[in-house]
Amino acid sequence: QELQINLEQIEKGGYEHFMLKEIHEQPKAIQDTYRGRLLRNEAIIKMAGIEDNMKKFLNANRIIVVACGTSWHAGLVAEYIFEDLARIPVEVEYASEFRYRNPVITENDVLIAISQSGETADTLAAIKLAKSKGAFVFGVCNVVGSSIARESHAGAYTHAGPEIGVASTKAFTTQITVLTLIALRLARAKGTISSSDFRQHLLELEMIPGKVEQALKSDDLIKNIANIYKDAKNMLYLGRGFNFPVALEGALKLKEISYIHAEGYPAAEMKHGPIALIDENMPVIVIATKKGHYEKVVSNIQEIKSRKGKIIGIVTEGDVQVRQLADHVIEVPESLEALSPLLTTIPLQLLSYHIAVMLGKNVDQPRNLAKSVTVE
Ligand code: G6P
Repeated sequence: QELQINLEQIEKGGYEHFMLKEIHEQPKAIQDTYRGRLLRNEAIIKMAGIEDNMKKFLNANRIIVVACGTSWHAGLVAEYIFEDLARIPVEVEYASEFRYRNPVITENDVLIAISQSGETADTLAAIKLAKSKGAFVFGVCNVVGSSIARESHAGAYTHAGPEIGVASTKAFTTQITVLTLIALRLARAKGTISSSDFRQHLLELEMIPGKVEQALKSDDLIKNIANIYKDAKNMLYLGRGFNFPVALEGALKLKEISYIHAEGYPAAEMKHGPIALIDENMPVIVIATKKGHYEKVVSNIQEIKSRKGKIIGIVTEGDVQVRQLADHVIEVPESLEALSPLLTTIPLQLLSYHIAVMLGKNVDQPRNLAKSVTVE
């Protein structure tokens, strides 16, 4: 048994938990994901699975994304990115709902299945259904040779390396990275992005690992914030646009490992319900980066403040306005709006991690959850 424990310690590479190790692996994992695909000097993106099936993508009526859990959140981020850059309509579906809904699928649909494990039963069944209707199926998986990877017509791996912690972290950011590469490649092929904009995106994408590294440096600050709010019964996460799915993912992370009830919401929807919950006991995490509806989010923050909610702002470096209103701010480096989810996610992962550790929860293996759900 001692041997077993030592082995695990070695696998954790000096970190207390796999989740923390995997959070810190993100700069490298993201780099591994675009290595060999993003060729900045030549200003191209090279992905065999896309090149070989370019016609299918360009002729697609729409892209349907199916996934579960955190992968579904990556799909939602992809919806914003694909529609914005490549101007292809995207629908994002929970695999479990899609497969039982008698969905309308045609031969002109492209279905993208996103799955870390490649073994999620509902996602696999959704693929089979789409294939039976003649749709083209593209898999975005992390585990090489997994069932979903094998069942897909083509695909792209995320190359995140093994993810052991049940709460998904590096799988999420690498999924977003792969999907961003695909969106950019399609945008170039369709001519919906100018060559200078395209180059700018490649350059900024290459800067993301360094910026994630920088975002990770807020760890001590986040630990202090975690200590203040660890006994909260509820938390609300708000974001808009590209960062709305990040709010959902932040709330999911907290629920999964700390068992604190949390809800993610599009910031503007707050007034249609969640605002009723806000009082001095409600911590509200608001993603308020400079690009992307900043002024609107600031007015959402004012609404929270006037109801005495506690505000934790995730802001762009050097932010002044939110700092004046919020109880705490956590800075992330500036980037293009479409790439900002790769940065804003980081503090939310660390916040849930520290709260769970402080509450003495089993971070890597939370109760009732499985890393991969291979049954219905
Ligand atoms: C489980 C895991 C989640 C994961 C989801 C989808 O619920 O606990 O972390 O996001 O399955 O898994 P997949 O392997 O398909 O991405």
